[in-house]
Amino acid sequence: MTTPGYDYDDPSLKPSPVTPADLEKLKATVLFGPDDEAALKTAGDVLSGQLDQILDVWYGFVGANPHLIAYFSTPSGTPLPDYLARVRARFAHWILDTCNRPYDEQWLAYHQEIAIRHTAEKKNETDHADSVPYIPLRYMIGFIYPITATIRPFLAAGGHREDEVEAMFNAWFKSVTMQVTLWSYPYAKSVW
Ligand code: HEM
Repeated sequence: MTTPGYDYDDPSLKPSPVTPADLEKLKATVLFGPDDEAALKTAGDVLSGQLDQILDVWYGFVGANPHLIAYFSTPSGTPLPDYLARVRARFAHWILDTCNRPYDEQWLAYHQEIAIRHTAEKKNETDHADSVPYIPLRYMIGFIYPITATIRPFLAAGGHREDEVEAMFNAWFKSVTMQVTLWSYPYAKSVW
């Protein structure tokens, strides 16, 4: 079954303004290397059977914070269940893509698409949602911590050694940091 709005493999996706050479430097900046790629592959196996539980934790966190659920709500503050559900389905793909996809030009292109879906350029369009126009950059950056910290118990649930769990956790942390950095592009274009 296809997931509405999940356009990773869409050949008409615009190329990212971020080049593969920029990405290599970004990887070096967050100390992301081949060991991290390998650890993420293992993480993908471990997390694939736990996607719903992970999303329950993340959505629970968003739902418990009125200033965050506001971005899945109408401008007057009524949460939009269909919007929440459609984005949740794409979020599940994102977990697996973070672990399994090669970080190549297609990855960069879809990351630019995810970036603009958080900004006034494209938020709400994919799901025809009657919601507020953009996610502030401060919450994008701030989200790195909960999206990272909450993944640890799920990584540990696969029965791997402590040092393997630590490697998966660090690889995940680096990848999320790198992705949010890519997503900062439309917010910070002129100085990115
Ligand atoms: C969309 C991840 C920060 C609200 C998405 C999607 C992913 C994602 C994977 C779906 C992309 C797709 O369409 O395929 C993340 C991650 C974040 C982050 C990893 C930070 C580490 C935030 C924050 C909010 C937020 C802080 C505000 C509460 C949304 C909304 C959408 C969305 C409303 C739907 C956008 C649209 O209309 O297309 N996010 N997000 N996100 N996210 Fe985030």
